[in-house]
Amino acid sequence: MNYRHGFHAGNFADVLKHAVLARMLVHLRSKPKPFRVIDTHAGRGAYDLRGEEALRTGEWRGGIGRLLDSPGDPLEPDLQTFLAPYLEAVAAWQSRHGRASYPGSPAIERHFLRPDDRLLAVELEERAFMKLERLFPAGDRAKALKLDGYEAWKAFIPPKERRGLVVVDPPYEARDEFARVAEDLAAAVKKWPSGMTLVWYPMKDRTLVASFSTRIAGRLPPESLKVELDTGTCDDESGLWACGLILVNPPWTLEGELKAALPHLARRLARGAHPKASCHRL
Ligand SMILES: C[S@@+](CC[C@H](N)C(=O)[O-])C[C@H]1O[C@@H](n2cnc3c(N)ncnc32)[C@H](O)[C@@H]1O
Repeated sequence: MNYRHGFHAGNFADVLKHAVLARMLVHLRSKPKPFRVIDTHAGRGAYDLRGEEALRTGEWRGGIGRLLDSPGDPLEPDLQTFLAPYLEAVAAWQSRHGRASYPGSPAIERHFLRPDDRLLAVELEERAFMKLERLFPAGDRAKALKLDGYEAWKAFIPPKERRGLVVVDPPYEARDEFARVAEDLAAAVKKWPSGMTLVWYPMKDRTLVASFSTRIAGRLPPESLKVELDTGTCDDESGLWACGLILVNPPWTLEGELKAALPHLARRLARGAHPKASCHRL
């Protein structure tokens, strides 16, 4: 495990993933019944945008940096509506931890929990886990677990609340990781058909992405969504210029919200002349 999210925290891919995550959490909290979030690859939970890793790549400047620092260029109304829960969670985090701190997915998830909602944040890498664990005091509604995320995914669904969201955000370091995600996703849908799932994936290698799409085709509920964002360059040092999300059992309003907001988001996060974004049913 060499992957360190500190190099990438707050970049365009985090913006897309965390903004959609926040909207799914708002939907879950709109009903009184408690829910559970299971984050299978949680990371360390908080990132220093002035730290060594972030300074080395500066990736956050092309992500959250573009949304927070755009004087004279206010967000378009559809984008504002779509981003509101995410930007609210980031603002709440930064008011407590400073403007140079960026919340990872477990911190965003924790922000939206009500007293009876629960979060299991799973991380396998020792140093990231130790930091993650410190975010949640004993007895908190959120709990960090040092486990293999794929094993946790299998073991913890369906949760006893029977409502909730699994967030799957692996590093895709191993070449077979796309295949693993596809197979485990199909198995998870069988085991918990009504559960919501958000899977993030990088679009570096188009062949791997195409075979991922083929593997999941016909194995997910028909309302599942595929969301993709391409920043419009393929000449980027990070090697990552496009990414996607698979959303299983998304809130029914999300497709329309995404279709209205994505063109504006793609323009804001563009790094090349032809940024594009899409949202399709699978
Ligand atoms: C992309 S990062 C997660 C970022 C985080 N979800 C966020 O949005 O803030 C992937 C994380 O998965 C962890 N990881 C790698 N293999 C894992 C495994 N088998 N089980 C659990 N965590 C794993 C890595 O250490 C890394 O922290």
